[in-house]
Amino acid sequence: MRKVTKIAVIPGDGIGVEVISEGVKVLNHIEKLDPDVNFHFEYFPWGCEFYNKTGKMMDENAMDVLKSFDAIYLGAVGFPGVPDHISLWDLLLRIRKGFNQYINVRPIKLLEGVKETLAYVPNDEIDMTVIRENVEGEYFGAGEWLFKGTDKETVLQTGVFTREGTERVIRYAFELAKEQNKTLTSISKGNALNYSMVFWDSVFEEVSKEYPEVRTQSYLIDAAVMYFVTDPKRFEIVVTSNLFGDIVTDLGAGIAGGMGLAAGANINPEKEFPSMFEPIHGSAPDIAGQGTANPLAAVWAASQMLEHLGYEEWALKILSAVESVVQKPELLTPDMGGSGVTGDIGNLIIEYL
Ligand SMILES: NC(=O)c1ccc[n+]([C@@H]2O[C@H](COP(=O)([O-])OP(=O)(O)OC[C@H]3O[C@@H](n4cnc5c(N)ncnc54)[C@H](O)[C@@H]3O)[C@@H](O)[C@H]2O)c1
Repeated sequence: MRKVTKIAVIPGDGIGVEVISEGVKVLNHIEKLDPDVNFHFEYFPWGCEFYNKTGKMMDENAMDVLKSFDAIYLGAVGFPGVPDHISLWDLLLRIRKGFNQYINVRPIKLLEGVKETLAYVPNDEIDMTVIRENVEGEYFGAGEWLFKGTDKETVLQTGVFTREGTERVIRYAFELAKEQNKTLTSISKGNALNYSMVFWDSVFEEVSKEYPEVRTQSYLIDAAVMYFVTDPKRFEIVVTSNLFGDIVTDLGAGIAGGMGLAAGANINPEKEFPSMFEPIHGSAPDIAGQGTANPLAAVWAASQMLEHLGYEEWALKILSAVESVVQKPELLTPDMGGSGVTGDIGNLIIEYL
């Protein structure tokens, strides 16, 4: 009997719904092509519309329900009318933290054929993978709001960097760099953040001793963002904290074809819990419902999901189909210079598969 792979689909809000539908189209097609692949998709209506009806972003028992799946495929959450910190904390961060998806993998690769943002950098010089710490650090959620509404009003936002959390993400990045024979760059800010980032740097230094074969570099975040723009070929594998990773990967998206091409995987490496795969863009209320959203990031995230689930060959085939499709910008969505519509892009990928 063919093994059934259970995928929980949370399309979410805005263009999330439109782009995920193209990704699922591609996955359904793979199922038809390969008798060894059998997906079972179950859809969950969670997100801001659900919040407006129920006062909650997800059902009360959502985490118990999701636990039984092999993977989660997420569109995007957030919509005007629901405060962003609620949509983020009550859905996305709840899943990332609750399922200990402590690794966030974001490929930043300027595919051949995609128009470059940096006119002086050739396409093959932008090809890196950012490993972002995904459950603690600056986004731990600890802090205080003191003397609210008084002239002494004071807020504390506490970054939390545990030995376990810091070491495991750094080690993961070293393993990846070793496996792929690439350099590893740590991005931090030890000069100003005199506890958290001094600690980060010392753990990086410590773990590096176990990997003498991996060439390393360390940059302060301010220098790193400059080099992302002026000399991105310096970066191959990058490891950084939750906040810095959030920021540099959007910058990475900007230099590698835009938000419509940027995918991210939230991984629980021990496979104790399902991992989650998503385009990194938001729900884009400004273009929602117009059929102009670029679904290639969602398709790329589907490729990351298949890689994680052990279907490496199909993961590579999807990526190579994306690489072929971007050679034809006129057929793509307006953000890539074309006049295509979202609902046709999945079919284009399928043609190349
Ligand atoms: N992972 C997530 O679910 C996630 C991530 C970021 C933002 N958000 C939420 O999304 C909402 C909108 O946030 P925002 O406007 O800052 O970011 P956004 O990523 O939704 O949009 C930023 C810009 O990029 C464009 N864009 C984004 N994805 C695109 C695509 N696939 N194709 C073509 N153009 C695309 C949008 O039209 C917009 O101009 C907010 O509520 C925010 O909290 C959610």
